Amino acid sequence: MLSINTASASHEMDIVMKTLEANGAKIPALGLGTWQMRDEECTNIVKTALETGYRHIDTAVMYENETAVGQGIKVSGAPREDIFLTTKVWPTDITEDSFIKTVAGSLERLGTDYVDLLLIHWPPKVNAVSDWAKLLNEAAERGWARNIGVSNFTVPLLYEMVTASERPIACNQVENHPYLDQSKIRVACAKHGVALMAYCPLYQGRPLMNEPILVETAKACGKTAAQVVLRWHVQHNGAGAIPKTATPARLAENIDIFDFELSGDQMEAITELTQKHTRICDFEFSPDWDAV
Ligand SMILES: NC(=O)c1ccc[n+]([C@@H]2O[C@H](COP(=O)([O-])OP(=O)(O)OC[C@H]3O[C@@H](n4cnc5c(N)ncnc54)[C@H](OP(=O)(O)O)[C@@H]3O)[C@@H](O)[C@H]2O)c1
Repeated sequence: MLSINTASASHEMDIVMKTLEANGAKIPALGLGTWQMRDEECTNIVKTALETGYRHIDTAVMYENETAVGQGIKVSGAPREDIFLTTKVWPTDITEDSFIKTVAGSLERLGTDYVDLLLIHWPPKVNAVSDWAKLLNEAAERGWARNIGVSNFTVPLLYEMVTASERPIACNQVENHPYLDQSKIRVACAKHGVALMAYCPLYQGRPLMNEPILVETAKACGKTAAQVVLRWHVQHNGAGAIPKTATPARLAENIDIFDFELSGDQMEAITELTQKHTRICDFEFSPDWDAV
């Protein structure tokens, strides 16, 4: 089941955070992405984010910053139980030999007994979907993951995973921004009660934000273009976003999107920015993407 509630997430900024309820998981709709931040920079941004009111942090083994993220959480003083922490295991570690060791390593680096969401970072090229599901379920069984999910899964792969997994799949983290048509996976996620968490939600800071429709809408709403894009994300049912910023002032900007609403026409006009070939994260190991 997937629904959306609102609840106060922060005393500091008095933010009313939208929470996605997806197959038992309660996921703050707006989180902090941490890819490409490491060491002290990462620790300081995570600390400041938590002080600003963020309660959702996204990391991965591959980012090589789990220790820095864990340290940021620790020094922020924010209660662990108030934070929704996600990490991801790289596909080559989705094997009997590696998986449990890898997750144990993540927990140690993060300085925590559990993550709130454990994801398979990309669909593996090894073993069967049922084997991947078994491993995720084992981590949950051990109490190491409160919720389990996937990332970069296409419609057929998501279906196979949902069918194979004993525990529900809470989330599919996928590239999403106004230039990319993700309507097929959006429908599939909704059908299975799976939250769609957008990565690269700001198109990695490339010139998306200069689009006239975003500039105009921002002016009309008294917001920035980045806030309009992030609002567009979270205003879709069952959807959230994890923008990354290494700029402390942008932390407050990016989370301050829950006090305004885009009209149906504004939502549509932003969706119409879709263009072909605008996928940023496309590698030789990517799955066969859903046709658009
Ligand atoms: N599952 C996956 O395979 C996968 C793949 C990619 C990413 N991710 C996750 O998704 C997160 C977000 O994606 P991303 O980091 O690739 O891209 P992004 O969040 O779309 O963009 C980050 C870029 O936008 C800039 N930015 C942030 N806030 C801004 C604002 N208010 N105005 C203007 N520019 C702004 C940042 O600059 P400054 O830092 O200089 O402020 C940075 O250059 C990652 O950090 C990671 O956690 C997951």
